[in-house]
Amino acid sequence: MDKKILIMVIVATIVIVLAALIYVVYIQGGKITINTEQTPTASNEEDGTTNMYSLEEVAQHGSESSCWQAINGKVYDVTPFISFHPGGQLILNGCGKDATVLFETRPTNPETPHPESAIEKLKDYYIGDLQP
Ligand code: HEM
Repeated sequence: MDKKILIMVIVATIVIVLAALIYVVYIQGGKITINTEQTPTASNEEDGTTNMYSLEEVAQHGSESSCWQAINGKVYDVTPFISFHPGGQLILNGCGKDATVLFETRPTNPETPHPESAIEKLKDYYIGDLQP
């Protein structure tokens, strides 16, 4: 009797593991995705206004542990993206400043603007607008 229960538990475990494998391989196309997207915190929910930051405030976040960049009048906290940046540590050159020109020219390589994919990525890190 006990043996029967043991066998049933083993079979059930195998079925569950197989179902999980089939789900990942066929339904997710082999990709296990982890959602690293941040919820934008750019607007104040109570009054619907947008957070505004001065260049001085941006300048207080000029390091790898807290990296804000102003690009085309918007402010981004790109800290969580630094280790994923395809251009490596070069992203650090834009921390704590108006990085518009850097972002749009990538002067070290190969003097071309970032592609659309990078502009899309920025949206995940938007925290407010730059004070005019
Ligand atoms: C402002 C300072 C930055 C500099 C100097 C810089 C530089 C570069 C360089 C040189 C590359 C090319 C890497 C290669 O193909 O080997 C690159 C790629 C890339 N960067 Fe940046 N980057 C900066 C900021 C950012 C920011 C703030 C984001 C987005 C949050 C970003 C997103 C990307 C993406 C998605 C790619 C890959 C583009 C592709 O598919 O070709 N970068 N960056």
